[in-house]
Amino acid sequence: MSKISVIGAGEVGASCAACMAERDFVNEIVIVDKKQGVAEGKALDLRQSAALKRFDTIVKGVTADYSAISNSDVVVIAAGNPRKPGMERNDLMVTNAKIMREVCQQVAKYSPNAVIIVVSNPLDVLCYCALKSSGFPDNRVMGMSGQLDAARYKSYIAETLNVSTKDIQALILGGHGKSMIPMPRYTTIGGIPIRNLLDEEKVQAAIQRTRLGGEEVIDHLGRSGWYAAGAAVCDMVESVICDQRRVFTVSAYLKGEYGYKDIYLGVPVILGKNGVDRIIELELDSEDRKRFDISQRVVRAALEGHYFPIEKK
Ligand code: 2OP
Repeated sequence: MSKISVIGAGEVGASCAACMAERDFVNEIVIVDKKQGVAEGKALDLRQSAALKRFDTIVKGVTADYSAISNSDVVVIAAGNPRKPGMERNDLMVTNAKIMREVCQQVAKYSPNAVIIVVSNPLDVLCYCALKSSGFPDNRVMGMSGQLDAARYKSYIAETLNVSTKDIQALILGGHGKSMIPMPRYTTIGGIPIRNLLDEEKVQAAIQRTRLGGEEVIDHLGRSGWYAAGAAVCDMVESVICDQRRVFTVSAYLKGEYGYKDIYLGVPVILGKNGVDRIIELELDSEDRKRFDISQRVVRAALEGHYFPIEKK
């Protein structure tokens, strides 16, 4: 009997729950939200779609009752405020760190053996917050970043080349923000290196658009998006629940890998039933190393400048 809990029935949490239910790889999904009736309503709507979408996953919704998440294999934390126009991900720190701390204490109480996947922003800092407030080992606490950023990057490459996204392999390193590092050296289309197919100007245009992929959605919608984020989390959860051992970039806790310690950053990992099974260390050239260091400094500055002061209060 496998079980996933999703904390937060907003657009990202609900879209992730829908994606997971439709893929039909887990027995039960529990959605929790603090707003009266929201999780129940969305869970009911999802159950009503089961016959049409052909899934048997049981979907339940509860209001603020964390006992319902007992013995979950995976807990997805999508609780907190989304970004609005003009906001940086760090602007959400105060509110979302407080929510993250409260949620993780409940997760530790009711699902002490779960793998936690953080989705709320600022992602890399909130992963750190989740690690500290759950007390879980670091392999069981991670964030969804690279799978979404790489999906955006693939969509722009596919548009530019007029090819299927299915044949594009891509990798993005670093923090989930403007300092992320799309890696053309590790980007292939049907096994062909991207630079054999696209000139440098177009490669750089796809990279730039990827860095601002979240902002582009906010400009249209007035808030951050959810379909791509929900599907990206779904891939990660499936790899854990089904022990698929897929290789994804996730926000993982570094203990010396890439030369950094005590920080969460997007790096490629093997993802299986115990969470992060192994962090894969890539050879970086001097340019990539410089970018990775900038990204590391951006995340560390957010930890030191915004997060640690809140934590001490
Ligand atoms: C994004 O990039 C929500 O951080 C997420 O859209």
